[in-house]
This record gives sequence, structure tokens and C-alpha cells, in this order.
Amino acid sequence: MDKIRAVIIGMGRMGKTRYNAMKRHGGYEVVAVCDTNEANMEGYEEKKYTDWKECIDNSEMDAVIVCTYNVVIPDIVCYSLGKGYSVFSEKPPGRNLDDALRMKEAYDRAESPILKYGFNHRYHNSVIEAKALLDSKILGDVVCARGVYGKAGSPDFTHEWRNDTQISGGGIMLDQGIHMLDLMYYFMGEFTEIQSSVDQLVWKDMPTEDSAFSILRTSDGKVASLHSSAIQWRHKFSLDLICTKGFISLNGLLTSTNSYGEEKISYYRKDLEQKTGGLGKPMEHTMCFDSDQSWDYEMKEFYDAVVNGEPVKLGTIYDAVNLMKMIEGIYRV
Ligand SMILES: NC(=O)c1ccc[n+]([C@@H]2O[C@H](COP(=O)([O-])OP(=O)(O)OC[C@H]3O[C@@H](n4cnc5c(N)ncnc54)[C@H](O)[C@@H]3O)[C@@H](O)[C@H]2O)c1
Repeated sequence: MDKIRAVIIGMGRMGKTRYNAMKRHGGYEVVAVCDTNEANMEGYEEKKYTDWKECIDNSEMDAVIVCTYNVVIPDIVCYSLGKGYSVFSEKPPGRNLDDALRMKEAYDRAESPILKYGFNHRYHNSVIEAKALLDSKILGDVVCARGVYGKAGSPDFTHEWRNDTQISGGGIMLDQGIHMLDLMYYFMGEFTEIQSSVDQLVWKDMPTEDSAFSILRTSDGKVASLHSSAIQWRHKFSLDLICTKGFISLNGLLTSTNSYGEEKISYYRKDLEQKTGGLGKPMEHTMCFDSDQSWDYEMKEFYDAVVNGEPVKLGTIYDAVNLMKMIEGIYRV
């Protein structure tokens, strides 16, 4: 098996998650790790750097894996693409649309670039099933959706880098809500009309929002409502997809915190003649999952792109720009 020689920049929670997924895959050789905080690299045997440019310039490698704070992501992505390296970067693609467009310019300038962003929710098993159901058309076409993705902040929430706009670019919507937006975009297409209410309802002494409600509409008339929340004291992930001939409901999500409940997808066919159940109670088809393979599927797709020349299918630079355009629309209230 050909190995991708890679460096990981940013060895916090996600850097370690990506490291483990790359090891499980077997097709990666991590040649160096880099973090401004040396304590985060303790226990790793690879070469260590605290300066990302030095790490890139001094390593013999094929790919850069970017897992830093949002503010640093564009600089590292642009620099790496400019040097001809393949890049896997965490979401969000920078702090705002300008950041995403800057990375798109670097991508357009590079020769045969490979760039993938880590929108891992598309690789959750329930989401994969939902996409297959929608593509099969057995439930007709999706016409509207309702999504809620919420977490309970944290004890030091107001002091986290995620809520420092200079570093993160936005609050819970950009940090977590972007995954739900990405799923809706994946299932329904780009939203071109956006209304929203972006608020500090409980955590008032921080510069970012703790709640964002949005009503989104595609140019062909599909409608979605999205609530992204940092004040959902009991963690919640729920997405309803209403189709012309049926209904799909995703509830719960397997994550490292195990706090969003069992991951489950149910679907129902429209049954007004009551052949499968009472009115409004059609037969339910449910699948439950007990493992999260999203990180593995993602690193496999990146491997296949770099080694086997396959196209990056999900989390492309085009997805990144479209998502940041929609995020900008949500924040422009
Ligand atoms: N795909 C997902 O589901 C998911 C989940 C969580 C976080 N993320 C994203 O991953 C990124 C990292 O988040 P995290 O939860 O791992 O945060 P974290 O705070 O645990 O880790 C970030 C690390 O980056 C390091 N860092 C910051 N600036 C640096 C620089 N200039 N050079 C080198 N290292 C630097 C920090 O010291 C820290 O160790 C963020 O962009 C976040 O949005 C994605």
C-alpha cells in the first residue's frame, strides 16, 4: 500500500482524532506534528514543531493536515497549496467568506491541487442512509426540512477560543451549526434566500451568538429551518426531511462525547389510504447505528484522492465557498 507522508498542524482534539483515523487507515505515515502548545504533542514520537511554516518547510511529505484554530486555517492552506502539497483541512473553511475565497484563489492557482475540508457529518451512517434514500426517489423529492443541532456550552464557554471572534469568526452557528447547514445543503442544494435571528439569549457577556434561528430557501423553492444552539442544555441532533411521498427523520448522533443519543434514521412512506397503519401513523422503518466511522471514511476519501487520483467528492473548495456564502447570509441580520 502506498503511504501518504503527512504532517498534522494543530494537535488539539481534532489533530489527535485525525492522527488516530490515519493510523487506523494504514495508508498514512505521519512524519511530523506541530502545535504552538508543546504540551499538546506530548507522547507523540514524530518530529515536533511549534512553528507551522518551519514544519512544512523542513518536512519531506505529500500532504498537510490542518487542525488549528479557524484564524490560522487559510494561511496554512494557501501556503501548502502554493508549495504543491495536498491538503486536508478542518472545517470551517476560515472565519468568513473572504477567507474561503482566498483559499479558492490559491486552489485555482495551484497545479492539480487536492483540497478537502472535514465536514465529517456527511459520513455519519445515518446521513449516508438518508442520502441513499433521497437518491433512490422512493420517497419522492425533498421539499422542506427542519434541523436542530444544539449543545450546552461548557463551564468556561465565554473564554473558549471558539467564542473569540478574532480567532473563530463566529459563534455556535459557525462552529457547530455549519454541520447542519452542510447537511441541508447536501440534501437540498444551495440556499439563496436567508432570514435569521442571531442572538445572545443566555451567554450575554461574549462577542458571539449562543443561538441562531434561520429560515432558508433554495432558488427552486425548497425551504428549511435550522436552529443552532449553545443553550440546548440536553444535547440534541435532529433533522426531519419532508418529501413529496414520505418523510425521513434523523435523530441522535454518535460523537466522542456520546451525549447526542443513539444515532437513528427512520423513514415513512406517505400512506393516506392507511394500507400500512392509521392515518398519520404509517409503517416505520428504522435503522440504528452503534459506531461512528465518519473519521475513517473521510480519511479514506482523502487517501483515494491523493494516491489513486480519485476526485474529492465531499467537502470540496466549492462546497466551502458556498457554505461560507450562506453563513455570511445568516450573520447578515
Ligand atoms: N469536524 C468536526 O466535527 C470538528 C469538531 C471539532 C472541531 N473541529 C475544527 O477543528 C479545528 C480545531 O478544533 P479543536 O476542537 O481540535 O480545537 P483545540 O483547541 O482542541 O485544538 C486546536 C489546536 O490548534 C493549536 N494551534 C492554534 N494555533 C496554532 C498555530 N498557529 N500553529 C500550530 N498550532 C496551532 C492549538 O494550540 C490547539 O492545540 C477547528 O477549526 C474546529 O472548528 C471540527
